[in-house]
Amino acid sequence: MEVDQGHENSELFKAQCKLYKHIYYFIESMSLKCAVQLGIPDIIHKHNQPITLPQLVSALDIPVSKANFLQRLMRILVHSGVFDTTKMHENQEEEEEEEGYVLTSSSRLLLIDSPTNLSPAVIAMLDPVLMSPWFSLGEWIQGKDSTPFEAYHGMSFWEYGKRNIKFINNLNKAMASDSQLVSLVVKEHMEIFESVDSLVDVGGGTGTLARSIADAYPHMKCTVLDLPQVVANLPESENLKFVGGDMFKSIPSADAIIIKSVLLNWSDEDCIKILKRCRVAIPSKDEGGKLVLVEMVINDKKDEHELTKTRLFVDMEMMLICNGRGRNEKEWRKLFLEAGFSHYKITATSGLNSIIMVYP
Ligand SMILES: C[S@@+](CC[C@H](N)C(=O)[O-])C[C@H]1O[C@@H](n2cnc3c(N)ncnc32)[C@H](O)[C@@H]1O
Repeated sequence: MEVDQGHENSELFKAQCKLYKHIYYFIESMSLKCAVQLGIPDIIHKHNQPITLPQLVSALDIPVSKANFLQRLMRILVHSGVFDTTKMHENQEEEEEEEGYVLTSSSRLLLIDSPTNLSPAVIAMLDPVLMSPWFSLGEWIQGKDSTPFEAYHGMSFWEYGKRNIKFINNLNKAMASDSQLVSLVVKEHMEIFESVDSLVDVGGGTGTLARSIADAYPHMKCTVLDLPQVVANLPESENLKFVGGDMFKSIPSADAIIIKSVLLNWSDEDCIKILKRCRVAIPSKDEGGKLVLVEMVINDKKDEHELTKTRLFVDMEMMLICNGRGRNEKEWRKLFLEAGFSHYKITATSGLNSIIMVYP
């Protein structure tokens, strides 16, 4: 009996610990944002060697009385893998080994001068503008508003973006860095673009992905279609041009269309409208028309737990912001068939997105 009671108690306390972890999950996010706002990744990088706490205090130019708080901020960020520590020389007087903070592969993605700098994503996604609607999730589910974002701000995410240029610019910068990373994956699959003479990147943002494809295939005519305010005044090149427009109304014709991280922003009904526009903008099956999607595919039965968790977070964020969603293969197939495509092929990549080839 006693053994069972002990076992039950241990299960109970494990469950309590797990729940507290869930309650406090946001602390990891907010600590990360604080480190980015303080510029800690760049300070460590510029220091060129592990940086001690006193050195970090001095580089940040904060009151010495705050060193204790900084140490705790760094401790949780080390624990969550954003930074790491390494042993340095022995401190003779204190008889203990001094530690220095170093970057990890995650914090290297936060360096301001890196083309894959994701700091704007940290700042934009953890902006009170996007955080506040979370507090009315329950009310929204019971009510009639289309998104928690709209319920909170009184306008859609897209309308808000039109009126708040700084906010949307930060998101565009974040997407550009994301595309820089994803273009590494696309480059591994360049066979996709063989025999493609013209390509349109629908919702292509500021053109990072299209530019990398245009550079790799100088003969290919690449076009980025995005909202007029996003593509205004962007530098064009011999084989890369920008078109301001609305993908729901018209998509320029091309041998192939590429779409990255766009369909997750939209409901099934809207995705079918976009996909139908794509279908008429590319050649028929016999003439080799193709649509290349670089989007998430949720595969919670097979994929690693952490990967699925991140995709499920993105799915929830899309629900909050814009009535978009993450999709599993069955849900994708339904969209493709309803939009008039005949078959598709999904290739997993090492990142969050898969490459989905869709054929008329
Ligand atoms: C999540 S971002 C993805 C940007 C880019 N594909 C990338 O991955 O970096 C979604 C993009 O869709 C664009 N967009 C939204 N509504 C659109 C519309 N009606 N027509 C064309 N583009 C649109 C946005 O401006 C934004 O650049």
